[in-house]
Amino acid sequence: MNIATPQDDPIAALVANAALPFETARAMPKSVYTSPDFLQAELDGIFAKEWFCAGRSDGLASPGDYLTLDLAGRPIAVIRGRDGKLRAMSNVCLHRMSTLLEGTGTTTSIVCPYHAWTYDLDGRLRGAPAMAQNMAFDRAAYCLPQIRCEEWLGWVMVSLNPDATPVAEHYAQVSEMIGDFAMEGYVQLFQETHIWDTNWKVLAENFMESYHLPVCHAATVGGLSKLEDMDCPPGLPSFNYHYILKDEGFKLALAHPANIRLKGDWRRTTILLALYPSLLITLTPGYFWYLSLHPEGAAQVRILYGGGLSPDFMDDPEARGLFGEIKELLDRVQDEDKGCTEKVYRGLCSDLAQPGHLSHLERPNYDFARYLAEKVAGQGA
Ligand code: FES
Ligand SMILES: [Fe+2]
Repeated sequence: MNIATPQDDPIAALVANAALPFETARAMPKSVYTSPDFLQAELDGIFAKEWFCAGRSDGLASPGDYLTLDLAGRPIAVIRGRDGKLRAMSNVCLHRMSTLLEGTGTTTSIVCPYHAWTYDLDGRLRGAPAMAQNMAFDRAAYCLPQIRCEEWLGWVMVSLNPDATPVAEHYAQVSEMIGDFAMEGYVQLFQETHIWDTNWKVLAENFMESYHLPVCHAATVGGLSKLEDMDCPPGLPSFNYHYILKDEGFKLALAHPANIRLKGDWRRTTILLALYPSLLITLTPGYFWYLSLHPEGAAQVRILYGGGLSPDFMDDPEARGLFGEIKELLDRVQDEDKGCTEKVYRGLCSDLAQPGHLSHLERPNYDFARYLAEKVAGQGA
């Protein structure tokens, strides 16, 4: 029997919060951001179950290209095999359990840095020095545990959940909505990892609303964004989104003349997609940038930050230079968001803090809270 009340149980508090109609909705309860129990529920019910973005496919284009990440407490490696197939597997040695690969790079095999057990790119053990005298040791029985890995619209998606719905099906409504952007062809020009001192959801929520743009980003993009040009439709089960229409002054945010896929207002539409749980994409007809978020404890977030150009602009001699300017601008925008989201985390840790009501421009935040409530409350059922 569950006798917890919303006051002492962050999951119950979130479920009560998410049950309010949008017209009277409030920001999420503080404990959702600070409670170690809630964090564990997120790791178990969300990050160990859902699809997580490890980066872009073109970052792992050739056989032997790899990246590493921690997913819900598990070190994972994603590696392009000799057969061209991308695989994700446990990045932990099957001998005495050292981690194997570090960071990103290209390799011809996976050599453990402890005693040099050596694995093929598909995870099978290829060699192990001085093991012939152990009668039970059978090299062929060793293979690094594999996890789900799928490429979709240029994204590398991984999941610890063997029963996860295939990515293309899970996010089918995303592809339907933005298919004409042909995001699979967008070329990544930078990718970085950062750690900020805020809860991952504070940053996710910051991305989901453009209500803060005129103020938090007054020194950068604030002037380009008018509250009346923002549209925040209700979200869908696996994602939420909102749009901003850009005016003619921002060349890279408009469709290239060679782009005949996008029609009408789509040619100047920036769409901000929040693919649950934590892939946040700003997609414009000319360029894109994204954040993939993972908690580092309750008070820190690990951020994969990348972006690049749409293929139409890759041959445009001006575009590289313009994108360089955009990257500088995006970095300044990230610094502003870092300031705002770290202030929110510091603020919500106060016992005097109280979550207030949401604007109609925070509809995606409301949908996100409902998604979280369903996932964390549903997992024990
Ligand atoms: S722990 Fe990897 S070879 Fe010993
Ligand atoms: Fe922002």
